[in-house]
Amino acid sequence: MKIAIMGTGRMARGLAKGWARTGHTVHLGSRTPEAREETAQTIPTAAVSDHAAALEGADVVVIAIPYTAVEAFARRHAGQLRGKVVIDITNPFDNLPDNRVAGAEITATAIGAGARVVAAFKDNFWATLDQPASAEGIARDVHLAGDDEEAKQVVAGLAAELDFQPLDCGPLRNARILDSMVPLMIELDQRYARGQSQASWKLLAK
Ligand SMILES: NC(=O)c1ccc[n+]([C@@H]2O[C@H](COP(=O)([O-])OP(=O)(O)OC[C@H]3O[C@@H](n4cnc5c(N)ncnc54)[C@H](OP(=O)(O)O)[C@@H]3O)[C@@H](O)[C@H]2O)c1
Repeated sequence: MKIAIMGTGRMARGLAKGWARTGHTVHLGSRTPEAREETAQTIPTAAVSDHAAALEGADVVVIAIPYTAVEAFARRHAGQLRGKVVIDITNPFDNLPDNRVAGAEITATAIGAGARVVAAFKDNFWATLDQPASAEGIARDVHLAGDDEEAKQVVAGLAAELDFQPLDCGPLRNARILDSMVPLMIELDQRYARGQSQASWKLLAK
């Protein structure tokens, strides 16, 4: 698949490295691609360009920019985002009007009809992207929420390729719960993982 990752920061680079390793073509989208050439060179097979060029021909798009920039980004590129599997990993924190809407729902509305948004990786710390299992060998969970079942399966497959445990958390509105789990995860990380961005969620179902 061609995976377009919007952003060139910690999450974008971590995911890009993983999916480049598992054989996908990864294209990073940047506001200043010329300044990010060196970053792209650290990721085998990855290229960097402006957002519109990176989105060209992508099967999957990952939005890995600050939440406050997402709605405008999604409106600007709605034509290119419609019909594609869009993974919204962004965390709104205190920037939501209230807790009755998820950041990913706002993204889907901004894209409009034909949006295939899956909220995922919101509560996976950047520092764990290259360590999908804990020291005890337990795979970290990746929570997914979305209304498009096929899109969720694609994202679950991509998470599993990186050796994470994908967990279908239901419809996109359940991303409201995921949004509020992120500040809690940071609190728990500070209390139990020395604030080293190592804490992860694990569902024990048996
Ligand atoms: N850090 C984590 O552990 C973590 C975990 C889960 C989810 N997230 C979410 O993932 C997203 C990225 O987090 P991160 O830690 O990777 O952030 P980061 O390291 O600060 O990188 C963000 C990237 O977004 C781009 N960017 C910055 N301001 C922008 C703007 N106004 N418009 C468009 N692009 C902009 C920049 O790339 P260019 O300069 O090349 O354009 C930058 O490299 C955030 O929404 C965050 O909430 C983070």
